[in-house]
Amino acid sequence: MLRRLAPVQPDRFEFTPANLAWAKGQITKYPEGRQASAIIPLLWRAQEQEGWLTKPAIEHVADMLGMAHIRALEVATFYFMFQLQPVGTVAHVQICGTTSCMICGAGELIEVCREKIAAQPFTLSADGKFSWEEVECLGSCANAPMVQIGKDYYEDLTAERFAAILDELAAGKVPVPGPQNGRYSSEPLTGLTSLKEFESGRTQYNASVQRAVDLKDTVKRIDGTEVPILTPWTGKAAPATPAKGKAREPKPAKGVAADATGVTVQEAPATSKGKPAEAEPAPARAKKPRALKAPRKGGADDLKQIKGVGPKLEALLHSLGFFHFDQVAQWTAEELAWVDDNIEGFKGRASRDGWVEQARLLAAGGETEFSRRVRKGDVY
Ligand code: FES
Repeated sequence: MLRRLAPVQPDRFEFTPANLAWAKGQITKYPEGRQASAIIPLLWRAQEQEGWLTKPAIEHVADMLGMAHIRALEVATFYFMFQLQPVGTVAHVQICGTTSCMICGAGELIEVCREKIAAQPFTLSADGKFSWEEVECLGSCANAPMVQIGKDYYEDLTAERFAAILDELAAGKVPVPGPQNGRYSSEPLTGLTSLKEFESGRTQYNASVQRAVDLKDTVKRIDGTEVPILTPWTGKAAPATPAKGKAREPKPAKGVAADATGVTVQEAPATSKGKPAEAEPAPARAKKPRALKAPRKGGADDLKQIKGVGPKLEALLHSLGFFHFDQVAQWTAEELAWVDDNIEGFKGRASRDGWVEQARLLAAGGETEFSRRVRKGDVY
């Protein structure tokens, strides 16, 4: 299937503060120089926040990881789990169309989608609330036919029950996922034939459904305040539990499709609920650092030894009057904020990659693991 970016894109993307804290925590899982390994979770989080993966989001994640935009685009366009066009503000429905489900009635479920959502997959419904697609086996063949909506599986479906589920979602409810024909999980339709001793004392729903019912975030956009953000490997934990009684209902985007393309402003409050413990510090006031007209005698330092600075950024830093490690090493918080703002196309990278700390080491004649690799010619 040809996978292209949507022709109309929003202007920009930012993670919510809580999601940003989560994303930074993910990046710390990987050793220095291997931050690109965090691309899948970061792209996924961006999609969970916005509903779909926009071009600004892909580029934002690439910048966070010090990757060329094209590398992140390659990942985003390769994996089908990334939605490259706007999806329904309430739910994107994925219908399994593989053998078991098809034999058991997936075709009828697709007809429901055509009738209630849109004639073609990857198309928004008239009210912008729903979209759908047919997907390959979702591994729930014993409960065919089934669909995935948001994070949860709705199984043992009939066309009538599926249509009712869509109506409930449109009305702002979250129907209980799992088998829809009274089955507990995937036991025989006629009841258990073995392990009967476990029947008593079990929870109301099977474990997956119970968890989904407890979390109630099936179709909610994820702004990072729903679940504790744990980064134990950094020695920090940022519990960001939802406010009581909040974050329980599906939250459609503000308004519906903004224009004919269906691009919407998704509701992802930046700061309102559940203030995370790792909230971003207030941004420092920006002040331009002292610059030089040209490098000192002896020539410029190789700024590419600073992780996060490639040839393009080095040229940009030169054009701004920064040639030496000791210049970077002396930047104050205000000056770092100015640099972060003025490295067009790489905003935020100077503080994110710790340029000042690296430069201090390099200016003092030391080296970092990254600078060692650059000097050995291992970084291209
Ligand atoms: S065939 Fe549909 S879940 Fe496997």
